[in-house]
Amino acid sequence: MAIEEQEFQLDNSFLDPAVQDDPFESYATLREQCPVYRVPETGLYMVTRYEDVREALTNPETFSSRPGAGAGGANEASKAHAAVFAERGWVKARTLQRTDPPEHTHYRKILGRVFTNRNVEKMKPRINQLTHELIDQFIDRGHCEFVSEFALPLPGIFICEQLGLPAQEYETFKRWADAMLAMSQRPLTPEEAIVQAELEVEAQHHLAREFEKRRAEPSDDLISLIVHAHQDEEPFTMEELQDLMHQLVTGGFETTTAAISKSMLLLLKYPEQMEKLRADPSLTKNFIEESLRFDSPVAGLWRTTACPVELSGTQIPEGAPVMPRFASANRDREIFDEPDTFNIERDNVNQHVAFGLGNHFCLGASLARAELLAAFEAILERMDDIHLVDEMEEEVHHFSFFLRPMKKLHLGFTKK
Ligand code: HEM
Repeated sequence: MAIEEQEFQLDNSFLDPAVQDDPFESYATLREQCPVYRVPETGLYMVTRYEDVREALTNPETFSSRPGAGAGGANEASKAHAAVFAERGWVKARTLQRTDPPEHTHYRKILGRVFTNRNVEKMKPRINQLTHELIDQFIDRGHCEFVSEFALPLPGIFICEQLGLPAQEYETFKRWADAMLAMSQRPLTPEEAIVQAELEVEAQHHLAREFEKRRAEPSDDLISLIVHAHQDEEPFTMEELQDLMHQLVTGGFETTTAAISKSMLLLLKYPEQMEKLRADPSLTKNFIEESLRFDSPVAGLWRTTACPVELSGTQIPEGAPVMPRFASANRDREIFDEPDTFNIERDNVNQHVAFGLGNHFCLGASLARAELLAAFEAILERMDDIHLVDEMEEEVHHFSFFLRPMKKLHLGFTKK
């Protein structure tokens, strides 16, 4: 199928940091006028309506999760990046999120044994304790920089501990996690790509030692559960383990940080909702889901068409990169009444797709929910009169094509 030029063009570009910072008007325009939009600068097909996003997420035969050339691009930077792993580390196998059924079913079945509700229940006491330890460090001061002092270290230290790294090494871990995400956040030069790959290879060597330790001596942390989850099937190879770990770190860290920071900012922007929540803390779970809907931390993810397909009138050729845009689907008025109103009492909020949908539905959703719940229960219990100290910067987020990482959130409060 030849690539059709689209007549419709947005006035602004999705590569413009200001649009990434506040894309909601552009999404609304697209949902109405061009629901499957070929982003002119990248050739990516952005899917913006809820029903189309659902279609893309539930039809892996057409919308494959196996990365195609279009999704990653074999440019100079990605070649230089790959060479570092081939020479000094492990070339990651293609597992879980980067596979389709039946391969995906195999990985999902094994990892399903690790991310059970029972295991997440067991993690909750430590999550609660860590939440309070972090608040202890700034509660008497009456102010904090919420992103770096709370939203980053809560999921960061937690995963770190689960991966067998002491909490003091959290800064090292953060650099590794940033390196793992670097290639998908923004275009890099080959030199920059090599620096990031070298950092990731350092992480791989650390993880490899931890895997081997757990193979010999099982413990009750996440690494050990993953290493031993195969039961009577073939154990995961080192290449598979490296790829799984990459997904857990990139999937579980910045996403949760963004969710915690955005949820906080939303309460400050909509004080009447904060009041409602304080008056009735049983709304906390619903508030968390509404925040995930209203400003979805993962704006969208990649698929590649396995065959030519037409979606809402747009012809998409085989092998094309497609991005179901969760953040736009979650503002679709066909599903959500007054979608641009932040309403913590919304009754159908659970229809949001912030954790995806279908067979790749977020494996860490119950862990992320546990972290968010612990965070806001503790904040509401211990901090009163929370307010912004400084004017927010004009652009609140770091540039990223698919995540919503906030730069800073300076808060003042009184101790309860
Ligand atoms: C608020 C926080 C989070 C958000 C918004 C989020 C979002 C998502 C989304 C949208 C997907 C679907 C991917 C797709 O369709 O291709 C996904 C998958 C995944 N997430 Fe999360 N996630 C979060 C937290 C976590 C955590 C804490 C972990 C683990 C520690 C995690 C691990 C994963 C993994 C491994 C997958 C791939 C599942 C598969 O392909 O079967 N996520 N996540």
